[in-house]
Amino acid sequence: MGRIRLDALTRQFGDTTAVDAVSLDIEDGEFLALLGPSGCGKTTLLRMLAGLLPPTSGRILLDDADITHTPPRRRDLAMVFQSYALYPHLSVERNIGFPLRVRRIPKDVVRGRVAEVAAQLQLDTLLARRPKELSGGQRQRVALGRALVREPKAFLMDEPLSNLDAKLRTATRVELAALHRRLAATFVYVTHDQVEAMTMATRIALLDGGRLEQVGTPTEVYDEPASVFVASFLGAPPMNLIPGRLASTEQGLLRVEAPGVVAPLWPGRVPAREVILGIRPEHLTPVGEDAARDAVRIRAVVEAVENLGSEEVALCATGPAGAGPAGQVALRGPRPLRLAPGDPVTLTADPARLHLFDADSGRRLVWQGSATPADHPAAVVGRG
Ligand SMILES: Nc1ncnc2c1ncn2[C@@H]1O[C@H](COP(=O)(O)OP(=O)(O)O)[C@@H](O)[C@H]1O
Ligand SMILES: [Mg+2]
Repeated sequence: MGRIRLDALTRQFGDTTAVDAVSLDIEDGEFLALLGPSGCGKTTLLRMLAGLLPPTSGRILLDDADITHTPPRRRDLAMVFQSYALYPHLSVERNIGFPLRVRRIPKDVVRGRVAEVAAQLQLDTLLARRPKELSGGQRQRVALGRALVREPKAFLMDEPLSNLDAKLRTATRVELAALHRRLAATFVYVTHDQVEAMTMATRIALLDGGRLEQVGTPTEVYDEPASVFVASFLGAPPMNLIPGRLASTEQGLLRVEAPGVVAPLWPGRVPAREVILGIRPEHLTPVGEDAARDAVRIRAVVEAVENLGSEEVALCATGPAGAGPAGQVALRGPRPLRLAPGDPVTLTADPARLHLFDADSGRRLVWQGSATPADHPAAVVGRG
């Protein structure tokens, strides 16, 4: 078993609160990605979990046992560092076997276990080499082997792929996900790379400024971001965020308006309020001038078109004609989009694909009584 519970875990460095009251349940066998920008507290959180850094307050439980003050060696957790932290003077075999030797496990047992792990990671032909005689990918696997050999309750990894080149990173991503399935062990994986988190994790925990913003499956956090931060952190290009005003029309229809933007939503009445309208670039499509009167309409002028190979991204300045740009939206679609810089365009989107956030708090707004706009929700309520 490897169930981890963080209870209001906090760490301060002087005036900086690096990790701010994070409470999180990590189930046995999960691949949990801790995702967030540089400096958001990921490494600090993982080091507390590993026992390398004492928390300022809060608790850590492993399978219901309080390990907050247990020394790292007795935690039954294995850490894989960003730098790999291999011993340069030791062979691959001795590097992998190190955690067992320091526990005074008999030599022949260590040798057998190292051989097993080396075979699993395809390192069997490299056992006599020193770290400097290995490629980056091979070093990374030795670091992983040193964690595997202990058969820990959970693996803690801090950006283990960040020193690999793009191609090797992709290959190793696939290997790591397969390894996780094979071991059925708990992985806690720190990364600032949304692609790594989206592709490997069973759940993603997003951190911003030491605070937990949202925890959910990759699909949940992408499709229903809990805040503007999450919405803008995931996706490439990120979600378009348009400050606007939500109000009801005389006909009793909810509608968001912003310069150059009219987004009729669905029947309902609310007091007018400031919101942020979120639309993913892949959910915008160009339409002709004769777009249906009740459709979402964004008037814009194309500023640049980027060729991504199979797709294109068009960056467009929004705003009423002749009034200068009010904002920018990105649209992503199959190549060719048949748009060129200087073209005026009208963009539309399915209202069901729109996201609304409170302008002040940045939290997601949900519809009372129903999560689906099709059910004629009555009002916008608090946070989602
Ligand atoms: N040993 C330390 N002393 C002082 N401040 C630190 C220390 N370690 C981390 N911090 C600060 O804590 C915050 C979180 O850092 P870190 O956990 O390394 O973030 P991440 O791994 O997400 O990039 C940062 O503001 C960083 O400067
Ligand atoms: Mg870090």
